Formats: sequence, structure tokens, C-alpha cells
Amino acid sequence: MTTNRGTWKSKLGFILAASGSAIGLGNIVFFSSNAYQYGGGAFYLPYFIALFVLGMPLMMLELGIGTMTGRSFPMALGKIAGKKGEFVGWWSIAGALFITMYYITILGWALGMMAGSLGSLFEAGATAPFDDYLKPSPAANSTVYFFNLISGWLPFFFIILIWAINLLILRKGTASIERAVRVIVPLMWIFMLILVVRGITLEKGFDGVMYLFTPDLEGIAQPHVWRGAFSQMFFSLSLGMGIMTAYASYLPRDSDQANNAMLISFLNCSFEFIAGIAIFSLLFVYALNPAGTTLSLSFFVIPQGINGISAVPWIVRLFGFLFFLLMILAGLSSSVSLIEGFASSLIDKLGITRSRALATIAIPGITGSLLFTLPQVIDPSLSGDGTLGLTLLDITDHWVFNYSLLFIGFAEVVLIGWVMGADNLRQLLNRHSRLRLGPWFTFMIRYFIPGLLAVVIASSLYNEAPLYGSSYDMPGYKWLTVFIPLFWLVSSTVFALYLTHKSTNISE
Ligand code: PHE
Repeated sequence: MTTNRGTWKSKLGFILAASGSAIGLGNIVFFSSNAYQYGGGAFYLPYFIALFVLGMPLMMLELGIGTMTGRSFPMALGKIAGKKGEFVGWWSIAGALFITMYYITILGWALGMMAGSLGSLFEAGATAPFDDYLKPSPAANSTVYFFNLISGWLPFFFIILIWAINLLILRKGTASIERAVRVIVPLMWIFMLILVVRGITLEKGFDGVMYLFTPDLEGIAQPHVWRGAFSQMFFSLSLGMGIMTAYASYLPRDSDQANNAMLISFLNCSFEFIAGIAIFSLLFVYALNPAGTTLSLSFFVIPQGINGISAVPWIVRLFGFLFFLLMILAGLSSSVSLIEGFASSLIDKLGITRSRALATIAIPGITGSLLFTLPQVIDPSLSGDGTLGLTLLDITDHWVFNYSLLFIGFAEVVLIGWVMGADNLRQLLNRHSRLRLGPWFTFMIRYFIPGLLAVVIASSLYNEAPLYGSSYDMPGYKWLTVFIPLFWLVSSTVFALYLTHKSTNISE
């Protein structure tokens, strides 16, 4: 028996869905804040190198094994490399579940801020629950507004709503995903273009663009800048999570995956580029500093910039609303792909129906997303994250974002390069591709990429070990900084072992 896994109705549908997956919070907020943290122009060189030497070849690999096997990530790797391949696949799906949980929490908060744009977000004198630290300000203050929001219970409702929308988009598989991305993806391009036009036409907006693009050669010598650029590339292109393999498995076998990989990477990085320009120009007009965590950028700094965009209140509100709507749309087409990667793996392995697979994911998924918004205040000085939920989120993001993706990427190239044979993959891709991948491709997959990733992972673990945890100021909760990475490692391993050794209910 083979189950009907679904197929894309058109190549356009696939490209919209895959680029919709790639374009998300990563492009709008994480890119700008990483670019800033790692020194504006210093970030660009590593970023571009990462695009060509890591991003594109790995995208070709992930798409290639999807069409080759017609299976989602764990089963595809299982066919290629046996049980150890399948284990790596399930391990990455566990990472994807952690990311899905907090990704949707962030979207829930964005929904709260979007509603707030029409309400009191841009009005003066919001009152703070953190009285001693955040005084109600005479001007509109998005930081106060945001902490008010996340230290209450309202986000529970927004998060459940975002989960419900995701499940609705996923209920018919490729057919309903395709219908949704046909609306969402063009809309997010239009909204982003509106923001960028407004950004660069602001007085001094161009200074921000200059900062972003002025090269800084000193920064390039630091290993953490490279790790930042590599992790950003993985996350932004949705690599290392099994997504691209799942999406490609719904394509005809003769698809030109070298070409598709370049097209998706190009669309993603152009969007990221434009978003960087929009955000840096907006921030520099008011000399705002996009420092701090990625989340503070989207929830305090950008709204503060928007606040000064015009003297006319309704224009400010409109832009605020538009920015958060853009975040939600871009985020939805990504969270949908994260859940689909997991759902299609369960369907392929266990032969269960789509609705059962979705329910199996939604129960732990929603619980996790809600944990990330627990409103208890544990860092009253707000020097770190403030609430329990935000702290959990920040620590999880640190590990999964920085290490899980790179680690899976490493395992993936080793399996394909050495067990399947990188030359076999190259021939397979070349069979249907207009572009001819030369022997350099084999070299990259076998030696260069695994070597590079090993160096980056090892040097960044080495550099951060003595400092880790020092930035969290939360009496009584410090143990979380150790507990969370351990929990992630142990639970992912148990999960992956369990599914790898479970027998398959589907015959090939
Ligand atoms: N690429 C998405 C973004 O940039 C996030 C994502 C990561 C989606 C991994 C799927 C898998 O926001």
C-alpha cells in the first residue's frame, strides 16, 4: 500500500511555498539584528560566503534527496543511509518542533502588537507593571506596551489563534498550503516594498543603509561573526529541519533542483536585503540602536522608529499595523512549513491520516508555545528577559538556533558525502538540471562544508563556554540555563531513537 502523499499543482505553487517557508521572521528581524550585533558591514562578507558555499549547495542537497526518494526527511535519509540516517532525520524534526513552538509564540505576540497598533500602542503614557523600572512614559513607549502584553494572559489566546490558522492551512496538505501561499507570499512582498520606500525617503534614512553596507574588516576576524552568519543562513533558508526535503518530495521526479535551489535562495536573500534596508533606514532616522536581542528589535525598537514616521497619528498606526501584519504573514508561511515537515514524516513513517498527524503535533506544540509565554516576572530589573516565558524562549533559541541547525547540517553532508556518495548526488542532480554541477560540488559536500561546520561549531562552543549564562540575571532561575540545553538534547535523542526503531506501517 502506498498512501497518497499529495503533489503540488504547479511549479509556481511549489516555489511560492518554498520561498514562503524561507522568508519569515528570520528575514525581517533576525537578519537585521544579527547584522547589527555582528557589526553591520562586517556581517556581509561572511553572509555572502555562507550563501554560496553553504546555503545553495545544501539547498540542492535537501531538495535533491526529496525528489529522489519521494519521502520526507527522516525516511529519505533512512533510504540513503539506513538507521543512522533516519536517526539524524528524526533528531532534526525534534529541533524543528522546538523552533515551531517558540516561533508561534512570537507570532502570537506580534498579533497582540498588531491589535495594539490600532489601540493604545502608539499613545502616550502606557502604564507599566514593572513600575520601579519602567515608568509610564510621557511619550508612546513600545517597551512598556510589550511588557504589559507579555506579563498578562492575553497572549494565550493569540497563540492558540495562530496555531488554529496553521492547522487550517495544513488540513488538506499541498492543496490547502498552495491556496494560502498564493495570497500570503505576494502580499508580504508588497508590504515590504511599501516599508522600504517609506524608509529610504525619510530624512537621514540613507545613513542607516550606509551603516549596513560599509565594510568593517576587523569584525571578520572573529569566529562568532562567522557562526552568526552561518546560523543565519541555515535558519533563513529553512535548512537543517527537513522542510525543503518534504516540500520537494511532492514534486515530479524530473524537477530541476539545482535551478529551484538557486531561485529559492535568490528570492529569500533579496527579501532579506530589502528588509535590512527598510529596517536600518527606519532606525537611523531616529538614531535608534538595534542592539539587544532579536526580539527587542521587533517589539521595542522598530515600533519606536515607526512612531516617528509621521506627525499624523493615523499614518503611524497604519504603518505599525502593516509592520506587524507583515511579520505575521511571513511567519505563517514559515510555521506552516515547519509543521508540514513533521506531519509528512509521521505520515510517511506510520501511515496515519493527516488529521491524526496534525493532532499528534498540535498537542505538544501548543503546550510548548504556551510555556514560552508564561507571564511570571522573574527578572524584575529587566536587564535580561523579564518574564519566565521570554527567558525560556531566549535560552532555547540560543541553543537550537545556533547549534542544532549547524549540527544537523554537518551530519547531513557527512551522510550524503560519505555514505551515499556525493558524486551520486551530483549525477542525480545533473540528470535533470540545465546547470552542470562540476566536481567542485562533490568536493564541497565531502570535505569543505563538513570541515567548515566542524571548525565553526567547535570554536564557538569553546569561546562561549566560559561566558555562558552570565548575561541572565534572574535570582532563583539560573538553573534554567543548564536545564534547557540538557532537556533539548535528551528529549530529542529519546524521540529520535523511539521513532527510528519503531516499525514502519507502510510498505514501499
Ligand atoms: N526560514 C524561516 C525564517 O526565515 C524560518 C524557518 C526555519 C522555517 C527553519 C522553517 C525551518 O523565518
